[in-house]
Amino acid sequence: MTSSHQNRICRSLLSQYDPYILDIYKSEMGYGVDRFFLLSYCLACCWSGLGAKSNLRIVKQWSEMKFVFPNEEAQQAALANRFYVPGNSVPIDVDVHHRKGPAKSRIFVTIPRFDEGRPVTLGTVDEEGLVSGYPDYSWHDNQGNNCDGLTSVFRVAIDKCDRLWVMDSGKIGEKAVCPPQLLAFDLKTDQLVYKHRPNPSSYIATSLFITPVVDVRGHDCSDTFVYVADVSGFGLLVVDVINDRSWRVTHRLMYPYPSHGTFTIDGESFDLMDGVLGMALSPYKPGLDRYLYFHALASTSENVVRTSVLRNDSFIADSNANPYSVNVFPQERPNQSAAEAMDSNGILYFGLMEPPGIWCWNSGTEFSTNNFHQIAINRETLQFSSGIKVVKNLKGEEELWLLTSSFQRVMTGSISSDRINFRIHAEKIPLLLENSACRQPAKGDYIGKHADRISPQIKKYMFKYGAVAFL
Ligand SMILES: *[C@@H]1O[C@H](CO)[C@@H](O)[C@H](O)[C@H]1NC(C)=O
Ligand SMILES: *[C@@H]1O[C@H](CO)[C@@H](O)[C@H](O)[C@H]1NC(C)=O
Repeated sequence: MTSSHQNRICRSLLSQYDPYILDIYKSEMGYGVDRFFLLSYCLACCWSGLGAKSNLRIVKQWSEMKFVFPNEEAQQAALANRFYVPGNSVPIDVDVHHRKGPAKSRIFVTIPRFDEGRPVTLGTVDEEGLVSGYPDYSWHDNQGNNCDGLTSVFRVAIDKCDRLWVMDSGKIGEKAVCPPQLLAFDLKTDQLVYKHRPNPSSYIATSLFITPVVDVRGHDCSDTFVYVADVSGFGLLVVDVINDRSWRVTHRLMYPYPSHGTFTIDGESFDLMDGVLGMALSPYKPGLDRYLYFHALASTSENVVRTSVLRNDSFIADSNANPYSVNVFPQERPNQSAAEAMDSNGILYFGLMEPPGIWCWNSGTEFSTNNFHQIAINRETLQFSSGIKVVKNLKGEEELWLLTSSFQRVMTGSISSDRINFRIHAEKIPLLLENSACRQPAKGDYIGKHADRISPQIKKYMFKYGAVAFL
C-alpha cells in the first residue's frame, strides 16, 4: 500500500468519528497510553517516512512547537520582546500523569531556555499539540525578571504521590539570571507544595541542574530525596526534602570523556562535552538500599552508586570516604546514550545514538552488549532520546514514554519546520517486552549460575554485575 493511499484511509477514518463519540471511546479504553492513541493512530501508522516499523506508538509529533497564550496581547508582547521566536523552542523531556474520571490524563513537556524565544519552559500538551504553560502562563512570562516564576526547566519527574518535581536551572543560555530551585506541584490541585533553593556552596558557576530523580520511600510520601544531575558542574545535588537540606556530590565518573564528545546522528555531527545526564533509580524494596544508575552524555559507560552513600552527608563530606563507592561497569555501550529510566522489575531502558533506537538491559544480568536488547530502532523517529519515563497507568500497568528529537539539526542549525523534528512515543511495557530477552533471565538466576564469578576475591570496586550485590 502506498503511503498516500494509507493517508487517505486515515483521513476518512478520522473524519467518521465525531469528537463526542471519540471521547467516549477513549474513556472506555481505560486510563493509559490508549487514551492518547486513537487520534494519533493514523499519524503513527502512516507518517513513518522510511516505512520502518517501530514497536513504540507515536502519540504526538511536531515540526515546530506552538503555544497557547492567555490572550492575543500576551502573544504580541512575547513576539515583540523576542520571548517568543517561532521555531526556536526545542522540547527535551516528557512525563505523563494519568487521572481518573472526566479529568483527562496530561502530558507534560519541558522546553529549556538554551537561548531566547521560548515563551514557556514547562507545559501541558493539548489534543492539537499546543503547549500551555504550567501551572499557568504567569509562571513563564518572566524571562529572568521574576525568580519566583520558572526560568528554565530541562527535566521533571512525577512521583507516586501525584507530585510533579520541577528542577529550574535558573539560567537562560549561559547566564544565571536566577538561583536554581527545586519545586514540587501537587497534581491534584496544581498548587506549589515545596520549594528548595540549594545553598550556593552546592553548585559552581558552570553548574546546570538538568535531571531530577525522585526517591520516595514508605507510605506517607514524607521520606523523599531528590537526586539531580549537574551536567556541566559534573556532580549531583542531593536534596533531603523533609529536612529541607541539600548537598553536592562530585566524582570523576560524572565528567564527560573527550574521546566520546563528538556525536554523529543521521549524517550530521556536533561536539558536546556534557557530563552526567541520564539517571535511573532501582526499584524500591522496603528495608533495602536503592541504587542510582547514571552516565555522562559524552560517554559510553554506565555507573552505579548506592543511594545510602549519597544520602549520608557526613560520608560525602568525609575526605577519607572510599572513592570506590561509585562504580563504573567494566563493559560499555556501543555508542553514546542520553536519557534512561528503570521499571519496577529492574529493567533499564536507554536510548542509543547509533543505531538510533531504544534498548533494554535487565539489571539482574551483566552490563554487556550481550544483554542489551532492542525495544525499537528507527533512523528517522528515534534519533536522540532526551526524555524517557516509566509511567504507571490507572490499571497498574507500566508504560514507557519518550521524547525524541532531531537534536543534531538543533546543534548544527540545520533545523527547519518543513519536517518533523520532535516526537513523543509510548507503549505499554508488557507489550514491549513480550518477546524480549530482557525479561530473561529473572533477577537472581544469573548470579546463581555464575556464583563462581562472584567471589570474595573480586575487589569491592571490581563491580561487574547489575545486581549490585557487592557494591
Ligand atoms: C555516614 O558516613 C559516616 C562517615 O563516613 C559514617 O561514619 C557513618 O556510619 C555513616 N552513616 C550511615 C548511616 O551509614
Ligand atoms: C558511534 O557510532 C559511530 C558509527 O558507528 C562511530 O563512528 C562512533 O565512533 C561511535 N561513537 C562512540 C562514542 O562510540
